[in-house]
Amino acid sequence: MSNNTLILGLQWGDEGKGKIVDALAETAEAVCRFQGGHNAGHTLKVDGVQKVLHLVPSGILHPSVHCVLGNGIVLSLSALAKEIKELQESEINFKDRFYVSEDCALILPTHIAIDKVRDKSEGIGTTGRGIGPAYEDKIARRAVRFGDLKDPQKLEVKLSKLVNYHNQILENLYGAQPIKYEDVLEELTGNIDLYNKYNCKTQDLLKLWIKQGKKILFEGAQGSMLDIDHGSYPYVTSSSTTAGGLSSGLGVGPRYLDSIIGITKAYTTRVGEGPFATELFDSNAEQLAKVGHEFGATTGRPRRCGWLDLKALETIVFINSVSNLCLTKLDVLDSFEEIKVCIDYDDTQQPIYKTFSGWKQDTSKARSFEDLPKAAQDYILFIEETLECKIGIVSVGPSRDQTIYRD
Ligand code: IMP
Repeated sequence: MSNNTLILGLQWGDEGKGKIVDALAETAEAVCRFQGGHNAGHTLKVDGVQKVLHLVPSGILHPSVHCVLGNGIVLSLSALAKEIKELQESEINFKDRFYVSEDCALILPTHIAIDKVRDKSEGIGTTGRGIGPAYEDKIARRAVRFGDLKDPQKLEVKLSKLVNYHNQILENLYGAQPIKYEDVLEELTGNIDLYNKYNCKTQDLLKLWIKQGKKILFEGAQGSMLDIDHGSYPYVTSSSTTAGGLSSGLGVGPRYLDSIIGITKAYTTRVGEGPFATELFDSNAEQLAKVGHEFGATTGRPRRCGWLDLKALETIVFINSVSNLCLTKLDVLDSFEEIKVCIDYDDTQQPIYKTFSGWKQDTSKARSFEDLPKAAQDYILFIEETLECKIGIVSVGPSRDQTIYRD
């Protein structure tokens, strides 16, 4: 791994970033997140125990790694408090190694209520975590930010105005129950401990670390096809999930980035509504869902499943200027007779497929490219050639050791 590496999901999230970040974090000094909130769900298996992280970077599982939530994050204090508590119960230490930007826009209980009630009536299938409404307030310059907890008096002035505005939306637009101002205030003041312990001017910290030559891993959440600008709008999340989001979400300029690892599953999944050209509705979809355990880590919703879409990935690889690819969940394809990949779309925007014969062998124990069956090698090489990007890592199972490093 070069000094500063960005890891991104190239599809609709759930590409298995958690496991790869966790593995690469072993040699990193810091892991930083720059966008999204607790809508993310990173599932990883460590020493046989499954852990799901929503906000805290996966690097936290390595005792010497520092972890940062950058200014581009939208932050639910209660979600963060809960996650920290659970991790601390597993003997994970946060002291002097966890930093939260004072500029993070806060997710309030009213944001969550608006997200849920709005998604019910005009929905795209959000995670219901208040992400969209919190980013709306950030862009509209009325957000309460983490650093606002410093001054209780100013906080109350800002918060009461915002909660009043939210309650008007809830009551007048959606006929929903308002949320008591005191309850919202309590969510913030009740978590003042988080401010006292973790509040930080993370832009300065990052500048210092980069000048010192520290090895930093930047961890994207969600996936590129959910990007607010480049994704399948309006069926997207409300942040910049592509490489561009890093500079704005952490205050680190693009020149300080040495490599960009793009992660894609060996097939495709999507949670929530929206276009999905290679989606399957037959027994193949059931097989992918069942073998791949394709249920949302945050909401538990079943994921929609389909073949790999190389046409879409080609564009995404360009947008992110991916320097290295990582192919995950290859083992999920082990039992298929035939495997298809979309190489283009026809005039009616239907996918044109290339068909590969399946390898019908267990790949989960492969530890080198040469250990893989020839048909699996051919599949990997075809993806690599089409995307004009080297596949440096192949994941063949959820555990740390079920990983093939080709470089
Ligand atoms: P939101 O981010 O909750 O506003 O949801 C917007 C869209 O992004 C919905 O289709 C969600 O299912 C999707 N989404 C948000 N976060 C994730 C994630 O971490 N993995 C997969 N899909 C996500």
